[in-house]
Amino acid sequence: MCGIIAYVGGKQARDLLIEGLKRLEYRGYDSAGIAVLNDGMQLAKTTGRVRVLEEQISPQERFNGSIGIAHTRWATHGEPSERNAHPHQGGQGIVLVHNGIIENFAALKTYLVEQGHQFESETDTEVLAHLIAHFYKDDLEAAVRQALKEVTGAYAIAVMSEKEPDVLVVARKGSPLMIGVGNGEYVVASDASAIVAHTNQAIELEDDTIARLTTETFRTSDLENVTITPQMRELEVDLEQIELGEYPHYMIKEIHEQPEAIRRCLKGRLAPGEGRVVLGGLAEYARELGQTQRVVFLGQGTALHAGMIGANLVESLAKIPSRADFSSEFRYRNPIIEDGTVVVAISQSGETADTHAALREASRKGARTLGLVNVVGSTITRESDAGVYLRVGPEIGVASTKAFIGQVAASIMLAVWMGRRRYLSPSEASSMLDQLKTIPDHISGVLQQSDRIAQVVSKYVQRENWLFLGRGVNYPVALEGALKLKEISYIHAEGMPAAEMKHGPIALIDQGMPVVVVATRSSQYEKVLSNIQEVRSRGGHVIAVATEGDSSIESICEDVFYVPDVPEPLQPLLTVVPLQLLAYHAAVLRGHDVDKPRNLAKSVTVE
Ligand code: G6P
Repeated sequence: MCGIIAYVGGKQARDLLIEGLKRLEYRGYDSAGIAVLNDGMQLAKTTGRVRVLEEQISPQERFNGSIGIAHTRWATHGEPSERNAHPHQGGQGIVLVHNGIIENFAALKTYLVEQGHQFESETDTEVLAHLIAHFYKDDLEAAVRQALKEVTGAYAIAVMSEKEPDVLVVARKGSPLMIGVGNGEYVVASDASAIVAHTNQAIELEDDTIARLTTETFRTSDLENVTITPQMRELEVDLEQIELGEYPHYMIKEIHEQPEAIRRCLKGRLAPGEGRVVLGGLAEYARELGQTQRVVFLGQGTALHAGMIGANLVESLAKIPSRADFSSEFRYRNPIIEDGTVVVAISQSGETADTHAALREASRKGARTLGLVNVVGSTITRESDAGVYLRVGPEIGVASTKAFIGQVAASIMLAVWMGRRRYLSPSEASSMLDQLKTIPDHISGVLQQSDRIAQVVSKYVQRENWLFLGRGVNYPVALEGALKLKEISYIHAEGMPAAEMKHGPIALIDQGMPVVVVATRSSQYEKVLSNIQEVRSRGGHVIAVATEGDSSIESICEDVFYVPDVPEPLQPLLTVVPLQLLAYHAAVLRGHDVDKPRNLAKSVTVE
């Protein structure tokens, strides 16, 4: 979602800001803009890509300057257009970039119009720029503070004024923002990817905090102007991890990184000999979590699919009643939190607004909260009581792949960890963990089928409707396969429990319709075979994901991709991989920009 980058220091701000915007492109955007202070405000915007903005401003000397702000916008209020793109001006030489939503913008706008302000865009952001200008009396920081007190909603902002050309003011509430601290310079950005090229020292701004930055001074304070001493931390991301290297797209790079990602996720956490999982992040609450009565997994998109697998496994392995829910639905249904309820928020970014809000609601109602999160230091990690980091490394591809694998692996470890405090015997846990250790090598094997998967996909890639079926732990995998295909190839796909197909969706099946079925050896294998027959008798073409050695399935399917035989709870870690590759190749064959799918954002920071 929207990306912010801002700079004050001794370098040419323009180059650094453009490079930062390119690093933030993966978050998803539809327009971009930049403002640099150099003998007045120099402003440029485009509805094109960042490189269009770059071409627009590079020959122009007026954009030279050592302080500036820039933005990639993902439209919320108002269509994607130059007029609605950031930065926005508010008068008094004030210019602003913003990520988030100002919920009371309509009332504020009415007031400001009465005061004589005129607006050019439909955005909530322009209202905030005018509000700051309205309060401005030769102190930008004070005007920002006063304006933010009037605002409800979420924001991360960076603001400059022509009248104080060496001052950058930034603030946040509910939307991510971090300050990279260099030598006499500050690089402020929505995430670490735009900072690591310049410094590895950063401050994660807390909610309701304002920072005033110049080349010589730095101060953070709260909305009451009380000074806050922020925590500096070292960024764990390095440049190589966020570069494409030899790969054409981040998505395929990250699919291929999965064996290594899982190794990192499992490292130091498995003690199969003792039938134990070691999760340091839960140690403080170990005794209490042993009394857990109910577990609720929350997430959105891919993270929710991982949560559905987690809920299945906590119930089957640990025998604790468990379910998964959309964070967005849980939050607003006035959920009942009974004693002993543990809420597990799953999120790659740790910034998804719906999941963050649901976590807060659960915490307010007395739940113990855990986070299964990838990004270190993100909002959800800071606000949950305890958690497990995924450790899969930065995920840049908008369509989540290695983070899903990490979320499932973390959920399996959590289920075994809880199970060992309940009914799961050391020997059962031990054999599960032994098998879990083999997963990275197995994934490497599945990845070798990539070219074959591309060939198979080419037969069906013109079909506009697909079904994905699975049962048990492979039902969420079917949902994930369908989501991947939708996200990047814009093919309509539906995932569902294989048995549910008969209750309506079967009417969609016509001659040659591709139906992807996860049909690995499992407790429900025979039933899945029946479902395959139901598809075939109506003319559907079945592409199956089956267990190695199951050659008999070939006689009832058009195409089969094989995965190694592992215990049922671990199967999603393998069955999802052919589906990721299938979606990737479909998108490439259809000529889409895999890493910049239309309308999508990597991290959705508005509710
Ligand atoms: C967006 C992304 C999805 C992701 C979801 C949850 O919709 O496009 O790929 O699964 O957000 O993101 P999170 O960072 O919370 O895992």
